[in-house]
Amino acid sequence: MQINGKPYHTIWLNEADSSVVQVIDQRKLPFVFEILDLKTPEDCFCAIRDMAVRGAPLIGVTAAYGMYLALLNFRGSSLEEYLDEKATYLKTARPTAVNLAFAVDEMLKFMKLNIGHPRLKEISLKKATELKVREIEFSEKIGEFGLKLIEDMYERKQAPVNILTHCNAGWLACIDWGTATAPVYKAHHKGIPVHVWADETRPRNQGARLTAFELGEEGVPHTVIADNTGGHLMQHNMVDLVIVGSDRTTVTGDVANKIGTYLKALAAKDNGVPFYVALPSSTFDWQLKNGVLEIPIEERDPDEVTLIEGWNGESIQPVRLTPEKSRAANFGFDVTPARLVTGLITERGICRANEESILQLFPEGNKQ
Ligand code: MRU
Repeated sequence: MQINGKPYHTIWLNEADSSVVQVIDQRKLPFVFEILDLKTPEDCFCAIRDMAVRGAPLIGVTAAYGMYLALLNFRGSSLEEYLDEKATYLKTARPTAVNLAFAVDEMLKFMKLNIGHPRLKEISLKKATELKVREIEFSEKIGEFGLKLIEDMYERKQAPVNILTHCNAGWLACIDWGTATAPVYKAHHKGIPVHVWADETRPRNQGARLTAFELGEEGVPHTVIADNTGGHLMQHNMVDLVIVGSDRTTVTGDVANKIGTYLKALAAKDNGVPFYVALPSSTFDWQLKNGVLEIPIEERDPDEVTLIEGWNGESIQPVRLTPEKSRAANFGFDVTPARLVTGLITERGICRANEESILQLFPEGNKQ
């Protein structure tokens, strides 16, 4: 994908120095474009915790590289204990997206199996890169399966297809394509007219800042809306499809995603608007059956609610939004029950949001 007409990846290795991983600092977009160097597992942890990188697949891949960087920085006596410790540490950076534990555990298993290998650093780097490439391939496949939905809608309507999305499940979050936005990009590249309603996504405004930014850079028509607008648009036939991403989806099809997703799903159900969730298999939690009760929901600093960040022409500044004496709460995610989800768009195809359909597409989920 591109920024200012120049192609960019979501996360990459510094060409001149393989001990440096580079990412775009998403806290500063769309106002300032800055690349962040990650040299240690602590750098990766902070980048994830402070949301310089965010979005479930990118969190996972950043932590996978964090395990590789841990290896480069190893100075002690027991490598196995050290790797266990760094894996536990990285997994606590954020609680909701299961991709984080998934990627760290894959790296840890691989590294432990290969302790003593003469080229352990090299093969660990290769493994982290394989996890990244796999996410890119997953996203592209999701794009192809989701494209069919947009094509069918366009065929029926013969007018631009209006898609509502929440938060940012785009190429910034999901490595090079996006999950929810991959079908949109595929349709746009194919010449199918699409228009995206981008929820602003308070409190951190990932929709207004990041989704709008990446759609704009790709030339996709879009409109930013306040978070509470979706229901009104759906009542007036102004939304053809809702497509959102996911941070963790249970084997029964309950979907954790950015706070506010559930309300969009309720409005979609009430108005007969198809509500799809686009996710790679790394986002399934095969152990959980009841998302509302079992998925850990991140609570972040209330200051993200009481203050709002904006660009004053020179720098990004927070300004106060609420009375000094008012308390605020900041739940990062909510869970949309499977009954409200029309379908899950995955790298293996589209399935219904229930255990039978999910396991039919991913039989390996039975063994986890
Ligand atoms: O708090 P964030 O910005 O990491 O939340 C991101 C989302 O909720 C995305 O929709 C989700 O990760 C799915 S797409 C990667």
